[in-house]
Amino acid sequence: MRFLITGTAGFIGFHLARRLLDEGNEVVGLDGLTPYYDVELKRRRHAILSRHDGFREERVMLEDQAGLKRVWEDSGSIDAVVHLAAQVGVRHSSEAPGEFVDANLIGTFNIMELIRRRPVKHFLFASSSSVYGANSKTPFAETDMCDQPLSFYAATKKSCELMAHSYSHLWGIPTTGLRFFTVYGPWGRPDMAPSKFTHRIIEGKPIDIYNHGRMERDFIYIDDLIEATVRLARHAPERLADSSSSGRALSSRQHRRRSTRRAAVACRRNRKESWKNGHPQHVAAPGRRCSLRGCLR
Ligand SMILES: NC(=O)c1ccc[n+]([C@@H]2O[C@H](COP(=O)([O-])OP(=O)(O)OC[C@H]3O[C@@H](n4cnc5c(N)ncnc54)[C@H](O)[C@@H]3O)[C@@H](O)[C@H]2O)c1
Repeated sequence: MRFLITGTAGFIGFHLARRLLDEGNEVVGLDGLTPYYDVELKRRRHAILSRHDGFREERVMLEDQAGLKRVWEDSGSIDAVVHLAAQVGVRHSSEAPGEFVDANLIGTFNIMELIRRRPVKHFLFASSSSVYGANSKTPFAETDMCDQPLSFYAATKKSCELMAHSYSHLWGIPTTGLRFFTVYGPWGRPDMAPSKFTHRIIEGKPIDIYNHGRMERDFIYIDDLIEATVRLARHAPERLADSSSSGRALSSRQHRRRSTRRAAVACRRNRKESWKNGHPQHVAAPGRRCSLRGCLR
């Protein structure tokens, strides 16, 4: 398959592109190499990807409509787009909200406009667990109400979900939104806790713990996340039809089931483990099917 992945110089995009290239796919990797964190780390990730013949690097900003159009035209036929590039950082979104509007709202809109003009088999995009916001019920479920974001980052991610839903509905774009929970692993982001803690511990310094240590969080290992994403990428959701269209209409129950499958990124093994160990936040609730199980059928 031929993929366009945005954010390939970033943590998740790098791992996803590497996995797909290793499997013999072709990847057009789009990234603006923004200076939010060490650009040298991003260059090194791209240098590794560039060793593959199937990789083509495109340094373009999501806000640059003309640049995106050029890449899109030069890329030829693309089977699937995985849109991961975004301005990240919950705390940073209070300091520089405009960067989040530009990269996340305008950037996602620009990517969807490309797809509207030349459809692909599957459009996947990264959302975030932060959309659960003020939701106090755990474990979180994909069907929970997510209308109370507690950070501006979360507000932009939820807005992307809404924009993607309308584009999918209006233009028949098979779309999957992925609510990633905190991801860790090699080549991880230096602004995140595992990396920060490691550096402080190596330096013999105390680590910063927020909220007076009263903090619980689920983490997902990068390889598990990539496995889920790759499997989902191969399975574009079927088109949902409303009663006025010629397609097969789905009952609201079927609709709910499919939405759940699309949004879940937890695997069955994780689910069992997490429920056994208590306090799970990132897993599909018992009785709900997780995405991997659906894909493995
Ligand atoms: N890492 C996590 O724990 C986590 C959790 C939830 C959601 N996500 C989402 O997953 C996606 C990937 O996250 P990540 O951890 O790999 O982040 P990352 O910052 O490592 O990667 C994002 C990449 O996007 C690029 N980028 C940012 N703004 C851009 C712009 N305007 N134009 C072009 N390129 C731009 C950056 O240069 C960077 O390489 C993001 O959408 C993020 O919101 C990540």
